[in-house]
Amino acid sequence: MNMDILLGLQWGDEGKGKIVDFLAPKYEVVARFQGGPNAGHTLNFDGIKHVLHQIPSGIFHPTIKNIIGNGVVLDLVTLKRELLALENVNVFPKNSLFISKKAHLILPTHRLLDAAYETLKGDKKIGSTLRGISPAYTDKMRREGIRVGDLFDVHFADKYNEAKKRHLDILHYLHYPCDNLKELELDFFEAVEFVKNYQTCNSEYLINEEISKGKKVLAEGAQGSLLDIDFGSYPFVTSSNTTVAGACTGLGVSPRRVGEVFGIFKAYCTRVGSGPFPTELHDRVGEIIRQLGAEFGATTGRPRRCGWLDIPALRYAVMLNGVTQLFMMKTDVLNSFEEIKVCTHYELPNGELTTEVPYDFAQTPVKPVYQTLKGWKCKLKNLQDFDRLPEALHNYIQFIESQLHVPITLVSYSPDRKDTLMKGNW
Ligand code: GDP
Ligand code: IMO
Ligand code: MG
Repeated sequence: MNMDILLGLQWGDEGKGKIVDFLAPKYEVVARFQGGPNAGHTLNFDGIKHVLHQIPSGIFHPTIKNIIGNGVVLDLVTLKRELLALENVNVFPKNSLFISKKAHLILPTHRLLDAAYETLKGDKKIGSTLRGISPAYTDKMRREGIRVGDLFDVHFADKYNEAKKRHLDILHYLHYPCDNLKELELDFFEAVEFVKNYQTCNSEYLINEEISKGKKVLAEGAQGSLLDIDFGSYPFVTSSNTTVAGACTGLGVSPRRVGEVFGIFKAYCTRVGSGPFPTELHDRVGEIIRQLGAEFGATTGRPRRCGWLDIPALRYAVMLNGVTQLFMMKTDVLNSFEEIKVCTHYELPNGELTTEVPYDFAQTPVKPVYQTLKGWKCKLKNLQDFDRLPEALHNYIQFIESQLHVPITLVSYSPDRKDTLMKGNW
């Protein structure tokens, strides 16, 4: 009786949406525990692509309960848009979606504040998705946030106006233009009425009851471990705990009830936004990976920075999360490479080699030290068995496993749900 957790081990966009959707038939509950509309989780099946931002990726399976947990910051306008997009493809989540009353709301002025603070940072900007994430989490921690449960409070309008006034005072002080606020508010209040028709609850009770009944629960992470507010490349991070403990606080589940921790990573690395990225490729190879991997953000459309696999960073993420199984994504993107490089160490400015992620990752210019492996140089199609993979791919997998001491039990080789090879029968 426990909850499995799937989370990203890199800088996000590892393919969490695809795999949660792929694994969903094995589960009865899927729950998002942190982040908000900064996430963009892509699912592909039956020739159609779907992008989810806040709704858990189990939503296409009608018998699954999908929970938006208390740790999420929720943008109701985006949620309404997502729900309407689902209706368009005949998915009606009135009975299968449960929204925590304790999830904090992203208000229109949070979005404006996000943009104002980023503008102020100039060339030190984080590269935020500008979805209001940081200001909403700031208000939560300042104990001035507004929660989903407040939507039903007779004093909701007062609470909203108080928060708005507080935000506008800051925006005026920063001389940030708020011309579009009326429009944003119109959308917001329409979305409030729309979303109020969906189920809200104390989701910590729901999820613990489900676990107690022996139901299988999967927690779906957003972003990635290297964007974690505590352990990521601070300050170039997001504003929540993307690592495993975030699933406990973001859902109200005890660490004693955590089962498997699935760590998902790309066979190479990508990052959107600013911040350190030791293995980033600024050359033609980086561009080839970007094109072959269609590495453009699912939320903002920005080109993703691309580079080789970074073992020290991955090992760090495996340690932080206590990963029990590794899932390797986008293997097909490397199909045509004669040689594939993997960073095994960092060289520090004083010439010393290290396998640790330095404290001041954002300031310490580490140089990656690579080991070169042979590419498999063939298309991957209809893979059935780990033992019958092309030899060079088999060696690539073994090399990573030997570096991380965790088995790779899933290999993904196209965006489509069906192009997924899984080891064993769990
Ligand atoms: P998430 O945020 O972790 O859910 O990942 P995103 O959806 O933002 O980005 C992953 C992208 O890679 C999406 O466009 C997926 O459709 C795509 N994708 C997922 N798995 C694979 C794979 O194995 N091969 C290829 N070529 N694309 C994949
Ligand atoms: P998924 O769940 C990749 C990045 C932004 C920026 C930093 C802070 O799809 O993997 P924020 O909007 O949180 O203030 O941005 O974090 N970022 C992501 N990068 N995937 C994501 O989510 C991300 N969510 C935020 O680009 O660098
Ligand atoms: Mg994404």
